[in-house]
Amino acid sequence: MRLDKMLAHLGYGSRKEVKEFIRKGYVLVNGIRIKDDDYKVDETMDEIQFLEQQIHYEHLLYFILNKPAGYVSATYDAYDPIVLDLIEGHEKRGLFPVGRLDKDTTGLLLITNDGNLAHQLLSPSKHVDKAYEVTFSGEYQTSFAVKFKEGILLDDGYKCLPASFKLLESHHGIITIQEGKYHQVKRMFEALGMNVLTLKRVSFGCLTLPDDLKEGQYRSLTEQEKNKLITKGE
Ligand code: URA
Repeated sequence: MRLDKMLAHLGYGSRKEVKEFIRKGYVLVNGIRIKDDDYKVDETMDEIQFLEQQIHYEHLLYFILNKPAGYVSATYDAYDPIVLDLIEGHEKRGLFPVGRLDKDTTGLLLITNDGNLAHQLLSPSKHVDKAYEVTFSGEYQTSFAVKFKEGILLDDGYKCLPASFKLLESHHGIITIQEGKYHQVKRMFEALGMNVLTLKRVSFGCLTLPDDLKEGQYRSLTEQEKNKLITKGE
């Protein structure tokens, strides 16, 4: 990982600020002063010091899970199984799901112990796209695509941000939203007189649900996925 990226990720400053700190010689890698901001470090092996203080790069974990129905997106539930039950050894790793999918929703859920990243991804100002494959009952009218784009008014008076909807076949389509209000997609459809029957998240920011990941399965993010997610925060 690039040295400037790692320091910015750990909260030592913005990318611009940490580049400046590196150029000023604040950082040692394995005892050698490094003034190159694009210097590559092995965050698991290299000993890194900032202003003579040892940096502890917490081992950050990132998993992509294909959530099955019946699991709650939480770190604890008194009655139902939780998504973390699907991750081996999760108890010792401080993992949590980034955001929530309803118990009956399936699909892409990011599981991590990186609080900074989760905060960025969930920040309403970031407008991270989330796409859901949806099946529904009720009568779909072509004018609804425009209504989704203009922002649906929910039952509590909240006007949603613009969303896009693509009908794939009768009663089946893909909706992309930028927020994550409680039961948002279901409530958007209800506002138009339809009912969501099944909901599956197929993408989250730059992550796409892999075709070969079956429900209940998970895998670590690839280096490329991780870098994209951390750099762009989406
Ligand atoms: N919108 C919903 O209604 N439910 C989900 O789980 C996610 C988005």
